[in-house]
Amino acid sequence: MQTKQTIAVIGATGNMGAAISKSLAKGNYRLLLCANQQEKAQALAQEIAQSNPNADVEALDCSVNASWEADIIIAAVPYEAEKEVAQKIKEVANQKIVISIANPLNQTYDGLVTAPETSAAEELQKLLPNSKVVKAFNTTFAADFTTPVIDGKQVDAFIAGNDEEALQTVSELVQTAGFNPIVAGKLPVSGTLERMQLLLIQLNLKNNYNWLAGWKILHH
Ligand SMILES: NC(=O)c1ccc[n+]([C@@H]2O[C@H](COP(=O)([O-])OP(=O)(O)OC[C@H]3O[C@@H](n4cnc5c(N)ncnc54)[C@H](OP(=O)(O)O)[C@@H]3O)[C@@H](O)[C@H]2O)c1
Repeated sequence: MQTKQTIAVIGATGNMGAAISKSLAKGNYRLLLCANQQEKAQALAQEIAQSNPNADVEALDCSVNASWEADIIIAAVPYEAEKEVAQKIKEVANQKIVISIANPLNQTYDGLVTAPETSAAEELQKLLPNSKVVKAFNTTFAADFTTPVIDGKQVDAFIAGNDEEALQTVSELVQTAGFNPIVAGKLPVSGTLERMQLLLIQLNLKNNYNWLAGWKILHH
């Protein structure tokens, strides 16, 4: 049997952090939840443990401690908070997988705050040069996690990164969360993935899709 991996979810109490934590609690993972407000992280850990007695989940009051213990770190925070988070965890995230889920949207949701030649994931990689940053979950809405199936089809989740082993590990994690993992390419592909989601967000707002839209590649 595969050894249990430990995952630190930073920003676990947010829309995405909670959705990811709940879905990964079904897998063979130890989950460490941290957030700005410790009581909220504790309440979430309790909620997960109650609905899934086999879940191995714990709230930790410090992202540094959680990241130190973790094999994989998920930065489930807004793009603007990533610099602060990276500074805190830098020393303990060496050689570890750090998942960037951020869409660096501007205030009006009609553009990205990142320069055209870069992406949130690449900026995080610059802040954490000794970690293996992998882009994942930015093309899935938090609402998709309860039932990652739309019109009878499993929603795709695109992944990008430079380290093959890390991509494999994150693909398994994405599959555990209920999505169909698709490796889209190396880390710079993150810019495309972030712009894809900007488009979906704009279409959501325009057409009132109820934030349950998702990506699906159909092939025969
Ligand atoms: N929502 C979606 O459907 C969706 C889909 C794909 C990707 N994303 C991306 O996922 C990320 C989170 O989005 P969200 O919608 O889940 O946001 P959210 O609901 O506002 O949650 C953000 C989380 O980050 C925590 N946080 C904020 N600043 C922090 C800091 N400086 N240090 C540590 N924790 C901090 C918050 O804690 P407190 O509440 O205690 O401050 C909260 O737990 C964003 O980068 C977003 O672009 C979102």
